[in-house]
Amino acid sequence: MNATPRIPGHRFLHSPGPTRVPDEVLNAMHRQPMDLADPRVDELIASCEQGLKALLQTKDADLFMYAANGHGVWEAVIANVAAPGQTVLVPGTGHFSESWAVQAEAMGVQVLRTPWREGWPMDIDAIEQALRADAGQAIVAVFAVHTDTASGMTSDLAAVRRAIDAAAHPALLVVDVVASLAAEPFAMDALGANVVLGASQKGLMTPPGLGFVAVDAHAMAVARRNTAPRYYWDWTRRQGPLSYRKFCGTPPMNLLMGLQASLGLIFHEGLPQVLARHQLMARTVHAAVNGWSEGGGVRLFARDARALSVSVTTVAVGADVDPEALRTIARERFQVAVAGGLGPLAGRAFRIGHLGDLNPAMIMGCLAGVEAALLVQGVAIGGGGLAAAIRVLANSS
Ligand SMILES: Cc1ncc(COP(=O)(O)O)c(C=O)c1O
Repeated sequence: MNATPRIPGHRFLHSPGPTRVPDEVLNAMHRQPMDLADPRVDELIASCEQGLKALLQTKDADLFMYAANGHGVWEAVIANVAAPGQTVLVPGTGHFSESWAVQAEAMGVQVLRTPWREGWPMDIDAIEQALRADAGQAIVAVFAVHTDTASGMTSDLAAVRRAIDAAAHPALLVVDVVASLAAEPFAMDALGANVVLGASQKGLMTPPGLGFVAVDAHAMAVARRNTAPRYYWDWTRRQGPLSYRKFCGTPPMNLLMGLQASLGLIFHEGLPQVLARHQLMARTVHAAVNGWSEGGGVRLFARDARALSVSVTTVAVGADVDPEALRTIARERFQVAVAGGLGPLAGRAFRIGHLGDLNPAMIMGCLAGVEAALLVQGVAIGGGGLAAAIRVLANSS
């Protein structure tokens, strides 16, 4: 007999990925796989490619999808644009820029870092200085994390592009939109990004396991010249019409079925509407945290409010607060799952994810559950957190 009691009602998932999967996406995945020669497989792949390109706002980039998570597509990018011994510049944004840098180093690539100041987005001046100092143009690419999911902060990609141009440096601009796509405005071609990478499990509302990379002609030429040994990740090997070749083997069909459905939901709602909804959810969460912070026990981690992410909010806690115990109470007693602090923020913060398939009732439920857990833990919070959040929603049109 199953001894685990059934928990009635919905459990709220407020991790910043994986995010809640809408019923339409789950239902779309509830189909049998197809034989590889079935033309419907090609149609499915083509529809996901077109949808992703429309979302990324690129006309001519090549789109490669992988049966892989975000770390997989990080590896794809490293393997294609940099050979062992070559150099990439990784602007510091927090835990995720550092993880990407460490992965590049593990693959034999030299990494130059710009420093990250806690609570702040990328240091744009430091990027320009590093590029200007690179007189021999050894840096092959700048790896920029748009939204660092650990710090909950979004950096100004247009400013990164301007810094590269101001330094007249030929480095590729490679952007990680894993946590920002379908939440924050983004347009690959208008930005002048050479490579963009993302994954299925955040704003795309699809289970984890599908990653993708969009590559412009300039980056494709760099990849063609790159002699680094690679096979599975190789972009040139994946070019061509055959689905088996595009995926270097069997495509993850059911994830593609889910992605196709999720792209359909995004375009049915309308991308501007999706982005505006994320703005509103984020403002609602920020109002709650600012209200709680009046008690002194918690505060917004971000020091620069302009860089607050619309996808995830990082809440710094006082030294006497155990964020892991708080998360356990929120999850087990109030059915609200939030995320913990990562890297240097482990034990010092928790994070509220607010991206993907969310509406006002859900965000109010989430914030009420978190506030209840804060009260149970005796954290010093101002009494107006939830009320401030509700006012933001009430005053929105
Ligand atoms: C911005 C960003 N990049 C990359 C990753 C790595 O993705 P994955 O966990 O799917 O490997 C994450 C994961 O949360 C992320 O937030």
